[in-house]
Amino acid sequence: MTKSKKHSDNERVPLTFDSIGAEEKEAAIKVLETGFYTMGKEVGAFEELFAAFTGAQHCVMVNSGSSANLLLVASYLHGLNREGLLSPGDEVLVPALLWPTTLWPIVQLGLKPVLVDVSPETMSIDINDARSKLSAKTKAIFLIHVLGIPANMEAM
Ligand SMILES: Cc1ncc(COP(=O)(O)O)c(C=O)c1O
Repeated sequence: MTKSKKHSDNERVPLTFDSIGAEEKEAAIKVLETGFYTMGKEVGAFEELFAAFTGAQHCVMVNSGSSANLLLVASYLHGLNREGLLSPGDEVLVPALLWPTTLWPIVQLGLKPVLVDVSPETMSIDINDARSKLSAKTKAIFLIHVLGIPANMEAM
Protein backbone atom coordinates (compact mmCIF):
# COMPACT_ATOMS: atom_id res chain seq x y z
CA MET A 1 0.00 0.00 0.00
CA THR A 2 1.22 3.51 -0.81
CA LYS A 3 2.15 5.52 2.29
CA SER A 4 0.14 8.71 2.90
CA LYS A 5 2.11 11.89 2.24
CA LYS A 6 3.19 14.14 5.11
CA HIS A 7 2.27 17.81 4.95
CA SER A 8 3.78 20.79 6.76
CA ASP A 9 1.45 23.31 8.47
CA ASN A 10 1.42 25.86 5.65
CA GLU A 11 1.23 23.35 2.82
CA ARG A 12 -2.13 22.86 1.11
CA VAL A 13 -3.62 19.44 1.79
CA PRO A 14 -5.23 17.98 -1.32
CA LEU A 15 -8.81 16.77 -1.04
CA THR A 16 -7.67 13.44 -2.37
CA PHE A 17 -4.64 11.72 -3.82
CA ASP A 18 -3.97 8.48 -5.61
CA SER A 19 -3.43 5.76 -3.03
CA ILE A 20 -3.24 2.85 -5.47
CA GLY A 21 0.28 1.52 -5.66
CA ALA A 22 2.03 -1.35 -7.42
CA GLU A 23 0.83 -3.89 -4.86
CA GLU A 24 -2.84 -3.03 -5.44
CA LYS A 25 -2.41 -3.01 -9.24
CA GLU A 26 -0.79 -6.43 -9.14
CA ALA A 27 -3.58 -7.79 -6.91
CA ALA A 28 -6.27 -6.35 -9.23
CA ILE A 29 -4.67 -7.96 -12.28
CA LYS A 30 -4.50 -11.31 -10.46
CA VAL A 31 -8.24 -11.12 -9.77
CA LEU A 32 -9.03 -10.12 -13.39
CA GLU A 33 -7.08 -13.14 -14.58
CA THR A 34 -9.31 -15.49 -12.55
CA GLY A 35 -12.36 -14.36 -14.57
CA PHE A 36 -14.38 -13.88 -11.37
CA TYR A 37 -14.98 -10.17 -10.97
CA THR A 38 -17.56 -10.12 -8.20
CA MET A 39 -17.92 -13.28 -6.10
CA GLY A 40 -14.50 -14.90 -6.45
CA LYS A 41 -12.15 -16.41 -3.89
CA GLU A 42 -10.52 -13.09 -3.05
CA VAL A 43 -13.88 -11.52 -2.17
CA GLY A 44 -14.71 -14.42 0.15
CA ALA A 45 -11.31 -14.11 1.80
CA PHE A 46 -11.78 -10.36 2.20
CA GLU A 47 -15.22 -10.82 3.76
CA GLU A 48 -13.78 -13.19 6.35
CA LEU A 49 -10.82 -10.97 7.15
CA PHE A 50 -12.95 -7.84 7.39
CA ALA A 51 -15.47 -9.55 9.67
CA ALA A 52 -12.62 -10.62 11.96
CA PHE A 53 -11.08 -7.14 11.83
CA THR A 54 -14.35 -5.43 12.83
CA GLY A 55 -15.43 -8.15 15.26
CA ALA A 56 -18.60 -8.80 13.23
CA GLN A 57 -20.07 -12.28 12.78
CA HIS A 58 -20.37 -11.83 9.01
CA CYS A 59 -19.33 -9.43 6.30
CA VAL A 60 -20.92 -9.02 2.87
CA MET A 61 -18.99 -7.31 0.11
CA VAL A 62 -21.13 -5.11 -2.14
CA ASN A 63 -20.45 -3.16 -5.31
CA SER A 64 -20.81 0.34 -3.86
CA GLY A 65 -21.49 2.55 -0.88
CA SER A 66 -24.99 3.08 -2.26
CA SER A 67 -25.76 -0.65 -2.20
CA ALA A 68 -24.28 -0.89 1.31
CA ASN A 69 -26.66 1.84 2.50
CA LEU A 70 -29.66 0.06 0.97
CA LEU A 71 -28.73 -3.26 2.57
CA LEU A 72 -28.07 -1.57 5.89
CA VAL A 73 -31.47 0.09 6.06
CA ALA A 74 -33.27 -3.01 4.71
CA SER A 75 -31.60 -5.19 7.34
CA TYR A 76 -33.17 -3.09 10.09
CA LEU A 77 -36.62 -3.62 8.56
CA HIS A 78 -36.57 -7.05 7.03
CA GLY A 79 -33.68 -9.19 7.91
CA LEU A 80 -30.76 -10.52 9.82
CA ASN A 81 -30.96 -10.31 13.58
CA ARG A 82 -31.98 -6.66 13.45
CA GLU A 83 -35.43 -7.45 12.09
CA GLY A 84 -38.19 -5.24 13.41
CA LEU A 85 -35.94 -2.55 14.85
CA LEU A 86 -37.46 -0.17 12.31
CA SER A 87 -41.01 -0.06 10.95
CA PRO A 88 -42.46 1.88 8.02
CA GLY A 89 -43.29 5.43 9.08
CA ASP A 90 -40.44 5.66 11.61
CA GLU A 91 -38.30 8.77 11.41
CA VAL A 92 -34.57 8.62 10.68
CA LEU A 93 -32.39 11.66 11.31
CA VAL A 94 -29.98 12.29 8.42
CA PRO A 95 -27.32 14.97 8.03
CA ALA A 96 -28.12 17.73 5.51
CA LEU A 97 -24.74 17.01 3.89
CA LEU A 98 -25.25 13.55 2.45
CA TRP A 99 -25.21 11.30 -0.57
CA PRO A 100 -28.49 10.90 -2.44
CA THR A 101 -28.10 7.23 -1.61
CA THR A 102 -28.11 7.99 2.12
CA LEU A 103 -31.60 9.40 1.70
CA TRP A 104 -33.20 7.17 -0.95
CA PRO A 105 -33.07 3.81 0.85
CA ILE A 106 -34.92 5.48 3.72
CA VAL A 107 -37.62 6.78 1.37
CA GLN A 108 -37.70 3.58 -0.72
CA LEU A 109 -38.31 1.43 2.36
CA GLY A 110 -41.13 3.57 3.73
CA LEU A 111 -39.26 5.41 6.48
CA LYS A 112 -39.27 9.19 6.90
CA PRO A 113 -35.97 11.07 6.57
CA VAL A 114 -35.63 14.16 8.79
CA LEU A 115 -32.83 16.50 7.74
CA VAL A 116 -30.48 17.79 10.42
CA ASP A 117 -27.99 20.68 10.02
CA VAL A 118 -24.31 19.81 10.04
CA SER A 119 -21.57 21.20 12.25
CA PRO A 120 -18.85 23.21 10.44
CA GLU A 121 -16.22 21.42 12.57
CA THR A 122 -17.13 17.84 11.69
CA MET A 123 -19.37 18.35 8.64
CA SER A 124 -21.53 15.71 10.33
CA ILE A 125 -24.82 15.99 12.23
CA ASP A 126 -25.00 19.00 14.59
CA ILE A 127 -25.89 17.59 17.98
CA ASN A 128 -28.08 20.56 19.05
CA ASP A 129 -30.07 20.54 15.82
CA ALA A 130 -30.41 16.75 16.12
CA ARG A 131 -31.86 17.21 19.62
CA SER A 132 -34.41 19.70 18.29
CA LYS A 133 -35.51 17.24 15.57
CA LEU A 134 -36.14 14.29 17.89
CA SER A 135 -39.75 13.15 18.09
CA ALA A 136 -41.64 10.16 19.45
CA LYS A 137 -41.23 8.63 15.98
CA THR A 138 -37.42 9.00 15.79
CA LYS A 139 -35.93 5.53 15.69
CA ALA A 140 -32.51 5.97 14.10
CA ILE A 141 -29.76 8.42 13.24
CA PHE A 142 -27.81 7.91 10.02
CA LEU A 143 -24.32 9.22 10.74
CA ILE A 144 -21.79 9.93 8.04
CA HIS A 145 -18.10 10.50 8.73
CA VAL A 146 -17.65 12.89 5.79
CA LEU A 147 -14.28 12.59 4.04
CA GLY A 148 -13.10 10.48 6.97
CA ILE A 149 -13.66 13.26 9.52
CA PRO A 150 -15.16 11.52 12.55
CA ALA A 151 -18.60 12.63 13.68
CA ASN A 152 -18.91 13.49 17.38
CA MET A 153 -19.71 9.95 18.50
CA GLU A 154 -19.47 10.76 22.20
CA ALA A 155 -22.12 13.49 21.99
CA MET A 156 -24.23 11.31 19.75
C1 LIG B 1 -22.36 7.40 3.45
C2 LIG B 1 -22.15 7.19 1.98
N1 LIG B 1 -23.22 6.96 1.20
C3 LIG B 1 -23.09 6.76 -0.13
C4 LIG B 1 -21.85 6.80 -0.74
C5 LIG B 1 -21.76 6.60 -2.23
O1 LIG B 1 -21.02 5.48 -2.52
P1 LIG B 1 -20.94 4.92 -4.04
O2 LIG B 1 -20.55 6.06 -4.90
O3 LIG B 1 -19.89 3.84 -3.92
O4 LIG B 1 -22.29 4.36 -4.39
C6 LIG B 1 -20.71 7.03 0.03
C7 LIG B 1 -19.38 7.07 -0.58
O5 LIG B 1 -18.35 7.31 0.02
C8 LIG B 1 -20.86 7.22 1.43
O6 LIG B 1 -19.79 7.42 2.21
